[in-house]
Amino acid sequence: RWRSRIRKRLLDWFQDNARELPWRSDPTPYHVWISEIMLQQTQVATVLPYYQRFMKSFPTVQSLAAADESELMKHWEGLGYYRRARSMHAAAKVIMEQYDGEFPLQFDQVLALPGIGRYTAGAILSISSGQRLPILEGNTHRVYSRWIALREPPMEKAANALLWQFAESILPRKSDAHGSGQFNQAAMELGALVCLPKNPKCDACPVRRDCRAAASGLQDQIPGKMTK
Ligand code: ADE
Ligand code: SF4
Repeated sequence: RWRSRIRKRLLDWFQDNARELPWRSDPTPYHVWISEIMLQQTQVATVLPYYQRFMKSFPTVQSLAAADESELMKHWEGLGYYRRARSMHAAAKVIMEQYDGEFPLQFDQVLALPGIGRYTAGAILSISSGQRLPILEGNTHRVYSRWIALREPPMEKAANALLWQFAESILPRKSDAHGSGQFNQAAMELGALVCLPKNPKCDACPVRRDCRAAASGLQDQIPGKMTK
């Protein structure tokens, strides 16, 4: 079966090739949340020192909620998109007030927090607690489009809906052993290290034999150009 083969090859590759990232050594919901917010629009290499400094100053939801806005902004200086930090601050306060400082573990509760969309909620809950929730961000959008040779331009509504469906269908069935969190991270990692936007390294790719874009030589045309 195509899905289980691609899943197995990707997970085996991830075991051997995952970068050691600070939020991966102790993936609590809080750690995954902060890292995922920082990683939106920002490269891993840039995020690393920010993440370390942030966790020294604000190691818990409590400390983040209690932080001065100006103190928080100092920790964000250079990352840009300051609205991310302000929403994060607001979310920490909501978690204090509504959930006693414990990060909520239900998808709808997480999705309702300021600054957290479907992707971030899925990432937090799959990576921190193994819930079977799909993700779709820049990397996985490109990787999945290539796997299924989807030629629609990116961000096209119908294509997005289809890719969300695919992202769900490809997850491991078992929810134990953090399978979905591993899978989601592995797919993002493949996009970050191998299945690059330009000149994807198909020769070094663990799922090349199962990739429909590579099979048709379409990897450079997928995803297509934006049409708007
Ligand atoms: N980009 C955004 N989140 C990521 C993650 N958890 N792993 C690798 N790349 C990412
Ligand atoms: Fe991406 Fe190429 Fe691997 Fe397909 S074979 S997933 S296009 S790197």
